[in-house]
Amino acid sequence: MIDQELKVSLGVDSIRDDFPALHQEVYGRKLIYFDNGATAQKPQTVIDSINHYYSKENANIHRGVHFLSQQATDKYEQARRTIQSYINAPREEEIIFTKGTTDGINLVAFAFGETLHEGDEIIISAMEHHSNIVPWQMVCERKGCQLKVIPINEKGELKMEAFKELISERTRLVSITHVSNTLGTINPVKEIIEIAHKNGAKVLLDGAQSIQHMKVDMQELDCDFYAFSGHKVFGPTGVGVLYGKKEILDSMPPYQGGGDMIEKVTFEKTTYNVLPFKFEAGTPNIAGGICLAKSFEYLEKLDITLVEQYERHLVEYAEEKLLKIPGMRIIGTADNKTSVVSFVIEGLHPFDIGTLLDKQGIAVRTGHHCTQPIMEEFGIPGTVRASFAFYNTTEEIDTFIQALERSINMLQ
Ligand code: ALA
Repeated sequence: MIDQELKVSLGVDSIRDDFPALHQEVYGRKLIYFDNGATAQKPQTVIDSINHYYSKENANIHRGVHFLSQQATDKYEQARRTIQSYINAPREEEIIFTKGTTDGINLVAFAFGETLHEGDEIIISAMEHHSNIVPWQMVCERKGCQLKVIPINEKGELKMEAFKELISERTRLVSITHVSNTLGTINPVKEIIEIAHKNGAKVLLDGAQSIQHMKVDMQELDCDFYAFSGHKVFGPTGVGVLYGKKEILDSMPPYQGGGDMIEKVTFEKTTYNVLPFKFEAGTPNIAGGICLAKSFEYLEKLDITLVEQYERHLVEYAEEKLLKIPGMRIIGTADNKTSVVSFVIEGLHPFDIGTLLDKQGIAVRTGHHCTQPIMEEFGIPGTVRASFAFYNTTEEIDTFIQALERSINMLQ
């Protein structure tokens, strides 16, 4: 009942009509797409905008005097404002276009990293994606800083008491995922930000798995940086956003040198452009930025609170059914979780299960999901991960469970 009410209120049937990729067969079976954590499908408006941009509007930005160049520049800058408004960032120059979350984190790791000194500390957590581990290890190596890791409990939740012990006046940055891509855990980021700020540390949130599932408001969260990827939020690949507070971005040196990021270049000395251009060297992914705004326009029309409720319901529904399967172990049982169900089945390899599900038209991800430390923590080689979006349904979950049972029978 809850299911049908939520589904109707959100308008899931008509949402599904907007996503052409959902309406196809693979291996002669209706596609069930449960790999949204890896990348989300695109609504027709986004797909059309890419076609339109390259058919009619293609030109370089911030450079030409001609009509197309000025039009592309206006649209690109308007896209920046659309995204600024969606995440309620105070200023448009705080929206830096990047290649994606990894690029955004690397930008901060390099440029904020340049302001760090030997003995400074950076805190991450045991549930981070490799892209929120490796850049910090590189900074520590370069600058002589120390990396500290917040441990997690058996449910896949951060041990907040340990965090409070790790943080000190030496901590310069806490870089933490908002939602775990492997466990689905929603971290208590408001509390983390408050504690970090009391200790004089800045906070970067890896938003790759949160912005598509819940309301994110930069002013309410008060994080210092927030990075996300366009392709996981129903937009194109190869584009993303780094939000950063203006005064912090201003205090950081540029990340890359090249066109657009300069004010004046001579062989003796170069001065740099203002934000956001200081961090946007070279011709950017213009179509990506403009078309990413289309996905935010799409999201604007949905009730994000209903999206949150509906996706939590999908997770709970899937977990209830999965737990009836003998040998099932769900990895990530946090009290506060969303969108992701990771699991292993005793005696079976996740890859074999994923392969058999694929042959039945069901797309899941298997493996370590770029979170090898989580696998080590749970003593497993990998998981099968079903990750949902608002266009998925409990009927699809029923078909997935049947296909999973069939796969298990074949493997045992
Ligand atoms: N980080 C992406 C995932 O979790 C690719 O699948």
